Amino acid sequence: MSHSYRDGGIVNDSTSPEISSVIEARLSRRDFVKTAAALAVTAIAPLAGCVSAPPLATPRFSRVEISTDDRVRVPPGYTATAMYKWGDPIGHPSGSPAFRPDAGNTAEEQALQAGMHHDGIQYFPLPYGSQSSTRGLLAINHEYTDDGLLHTDGFSNWSRDKVRKAQNAHGCSVVEVEAKGGRWSVVRPSSYARRITASTPIAISGPAGGAPAMRTSADASGLTALGTFNNCAHGYTPWGTYLTCEENWDTYFVNSATMTEDQRRNGITAKGRGYRWHEFDERFDAGRHPNEPNRHGWVVEFDPYDPGSTPVKRTALGRFSHEGAWTTLAADGRLVVYLGDDRTFEYIYKFVSAQRVDATDRKANRDLLDRGTLYAARFNDDGTGSWLPLVHGTGALTRERGFADQADVLIRTRAAADALKATPMDRPEWIAVQPRTKEVYCTLTNNTSRGAAGAAKTDAPNPRAPNVFGHIIRWREKGGDPASGAFDWDIYTLAGDPRHADVDKRGNIRGDAFGSPDGLWFDPDGLLWIQTDISTSTLNRNHYERLGNNQMLCADTASGEIRRFLTGPSGCEITGVTMTPDMRTMFINIQHPGETSSERSDPLKPHAVSTWPDGPSGGRPRSATVVIRRDDGGRIGT
Ligand code: FEO
Ligand code: CA
Ligand code: CA
Ligand code: CA
Repeated sequence: MSHSYRDGGIVNDSTSPEISSVIEARLSRRDFVKTAAALAVTAIAPLAGCVSAPPLATPRFSRVEISTDDRVRVPPGYTATAMYKWGDPIGHPSGSPAFRPDAGNTAEEQALQAGMHHDGIQYFPLPYGSQSSTRGLLAINHEYTDDGLLHTDGFSNWSRDKVRKAQNAHGCSVVEVEAKGGRWSVVRPSSYARRITASTPIAISGPAGGAPAMRTSADASGLTALGTFNNCAHGYTPWGTYLTCEENWDTYFVNSATMTEDQRRNGITAKGRGYRWHEFDERFDAGRHPNEPNRHGWVVEFDPYDPGSTPVKRTALGRFSHEGAWTTLAADGRLVVYLGDDRTFEYIYKFVSAQRVDATDRKANRDLLDRGTLYAARFNDDGTGSWLPLVHGTGALTRERGFADQADVLIRTRAAADALKATPMDRPEWIAVQPRTKEVYCTLTNNTSRGAAGAAKTDAPNPRAPNVFGHIIRWREKGGDPASGAFDWDIYTLAGDPRHADVDKRGNIRGDAFGSPDGLWFDPDGLLWIQTDISTSTLNRNHYERLGNNQMLCADTASGEIRRFLTGPSGCEITGVTMTPDMRTMFINIQHPGETSSERSDPLKPHAVSTWPDGPSGGRPRSATVVIRRDDGGRIGT
């Protein structure tokens, strides 16, 4: 099976960056930094619930060189340890089935073990409301499965049980973790331990909850979907809930009958993308169940502190290939959620809640994400931008223009943003908000289709065609208020190999080379952490031959320096990053070590590329959470 389509990207290696064209972004880097620095000292008082950051730290570690080693490399004085690997038991009180890679675990066992392909991750201190840096919960996304690794004989003898096991390897984990003498481990058993899978009942709330287009033969109410899957990145709220984001949900469906316009717009195909769930679970046949796809592509909120709670799909945040959901507070205390749609030529969004966050009463925020306004971003070539409201009955979003009501606008978010003429971007991935200045940064991972025949050409916010290496854009909301309707933007950096003429000409890399930026996170000190996801078909070749394995870097956005902190094992991507409140432990995820570009269904091939983390005698490569500590117990990065 071909996997040229992965993680929102349609890989097209036929084009050369040597023919790239560049349009100058309007705000110069120096001017933007100057204005941002002025803003930092004059405008923004720390808001309730925000971390009060000391002055910006500077990275103080020795850079890690580019590497193709099959291991995690970190700077001298640091140690990286794999902790929660695919197949490890979560520690549920009902049982802790051991990982048995070659005998194979059953579907039921997989539901009590770590899922595959860790992605977004968040540390929640225990108990709730504490700042504990030695005991907490990790909420973790399991994005997708490689069935060649998951089953002992891959796709052979494909069966209902194999589909159930694959579904149980998707979704999320909640595990309790604790540190003793600086050594972290999963607590087993733990009353908090939980798996959410592609079969878990999930409530549907907000304007599209119960809408006719959400009803199916199995759920006449349109209020309860089964499962969440392809959970990519994440977010969390000030009231301690986790947001898990459904990204390439369309790839699990087939429709060999009549495709609706919305199914086509969202990428559903006649034969699917190789998961083969529809063969034994007919709700994934969109020809037979045309409303089932409408119940996926949302942001899901759940409470990691309450293992019995029902997760909720929050439809007010729109439906598309959600990368993540990153929150900040507006000047008046409403919640702002930044959202990226990771597909070529798709949009950046934000949601502004109607209600203010109640910092004193956790329960008062329970349905806060159900009411508010969703906006799509328009980036003008002159360095200004505006937020276009997706509100039914306004602008182009009227009944006469084909939008029935607000539920319809939200279910068909992409079509609504098309109608408003939002700006098509080069695959928006993670979004990070600088904790002090509230400047917002967004990775645009790559888009080799830009400039291709029939596709959009370059513009100022997406200045390269083809965009082989990706870039990072940033904006500052007018008045410094995240709820503002307008912003100023510039390009923070063009990624790539600095020896590449296109990058040199802009001079935009000040530091270590990298490509395909994806994960992006500001730590409480304001250091920016960048993680890369060079696709397996391109890794170490096709203009990436000098960039090595995927990596994590640390950027000082004031000086512009970007320094490499970590390189990953072979065939992996680096994704997900969170720290304990004392900043002395960092957790990241290594996803899909050993992945091969041509064949994910062959159990032997990944083995040949990587044996991380267990080594040659360990069975098979496994995605895992990695704990990073400084040997002297100091703060990470500084
Ligand atoms: Fe799953 Fe867009 O990364
Ligand atoms: Ca990926
Ligand atoms: Ca990603
Ligand atoms: Ca990616």
